[in-house]
Amino acid sequence: MMKQVDVVVIGAGASGLMCAAQAGYRGRQVLVLDNAKKPGRKILISGGGRCNFTNVQAGHQAYLCANPHFSKSALARFTAQDFIDLAERHGVNYHEKALGQLFCDESAKEIVDLLLTECDWAGVTLQTHTEILAVHKEEEGFRLETSQGEVRCASLVVATGGLSMPKLGATPFGYRLAEQFGLSVLPTRAGLVPFTLHQADKEAFADLAGVSLDVEVSAEDGTRFREAMLITHRGLSGPAMLQISSFWLPGQALRINVLPGRDIPATLQEWVKAYPAQELKTVLGRELPKRFVEKLMELGLLVNQPLRQYNAPELAAVAELLGRWTVRPNGTEGYRTAEVTLGGVDTDELSSKTMESRKVPGLYFVGEVVDVTGWLGGYNFQWAWASGWVAGQFC
Ligand code: FDA
Repeated sequence: MMKQVDVVVIGAGASGLMCAAQAGYRGRQVLVLDNAKKPGRKILISGGGRCNFTNVQAGHQAYLCANPHFSKSALARFTAQDFIDLAERHGVNYHEKALGQLFCDESAKEIVDLLLTECDWAGVTLQTHTEILAVHKEEEGFRLETSQGEVRCASLVVATGGLSMPKLGATPFGYRLAEQFGLSVLPTRAGLVPFTLHQADKEAFADLAGVSLDVEVSAEDGTRFREAMLITHRGLSGPAMLQISSFWLPGQALRINVLPGRDIPATLQEWVKAYPAQELKTVLGRELPKRFVEKLMELGLLVNQPLRQYNAPELAAVAELLGRWTVRPNGTEGYRTAEVTLGGVDTDELSSKTMESRKVPGLYFVGEVVDVTGWLGGYNFQWAWASGWVAGQFC
């Protein structure tokens, strides 16, 4: 028998569950469909199992989008504080790490439980193990053919996320559905993802795997982040590299300042005065991991000698290397390990107030499937909550 509901939400992840609960509280009969065995799988593995569920600094400036203003409305109507209040009502204990990032004290499962409890209280029906075979537009709403039978709905919310982590069931379903209805989809690529190095660089730095240092990394467009960089067996990772990966394009170089926050030429001059007889390796080894300094010398990127022996051009070359070490990655690890997908459903196609398609009334897109991608640090969940919450008021 054909099911009939007010709202179908495709995707039982962060944005879909938030949207479903809100629509349910408005009295809408809501059915959430997901092809996975369990809801919220990305939430469960997020933040190293502790879910960095929001960022107290979340504002539109922390998001990449072809229209930088698009996210303003949703982020203003459902703020980080709104999610914190919700978490507190559900007894989730949390702590702030660096840079406004809020993590669960216990487990990311608490966030999934919170969302499922909200859905339960709002009378939402959740159906997993369900493949969507086809979606048809009808005069009044939509008809879905699924592996569990047909269902009709007045409003259809697409919350199928991005392409990262295909092992967790990520699919391009949302993009294809948007295209089916004539909506433009901006090209997608992996974001918040480690870099791979060319073979020669990879071999040169392989024995430094595990070394971490505080850096300021810049992309060619001038975007810069100051956070930790981690050298791995495959290339470069750590928060600084994940952040800048979203701003990097194939072939481009990264400039890495390994003494961030310092006037490097002036610092070198001070060191020459204070420790003229000490070698550069010794002095730098007090500021940076020794193995890293030795590697720069072994590769001939820095010359090691007592500081008083450097002439002015040589000191300038040392300053240039430390402040603007140039690395040209081979690529990224791609969707396999990326946290997010850049690009997606073009925001020009959607109302920023409701997340509803301008062309197809009743069709909504929320969360990562939309061309809104946050920095690392809880911003992506905040977008999922905010966009889901907003759509939930209208769908
Ligand atoms: P989400 O991916 O949450 O949900 C999509 C749902 O749709 C899934 O349940 C999926 O099974 C379902 N689906 C997909 N295709 C379907 C189909 N064809 N039919 C039916 N259902 C389908 N962000 C952050 O802010 N803080 C953090 O700590 C982290 N950590 C993190 C770690 C890792 C390893 C990853 C991969 C990602 C993060 N993120 C993050 C990013 C964050 O997980 C992501 O941005 C949100 O989960 C996006 O929420 P959505 O609801 O859009 O998609």
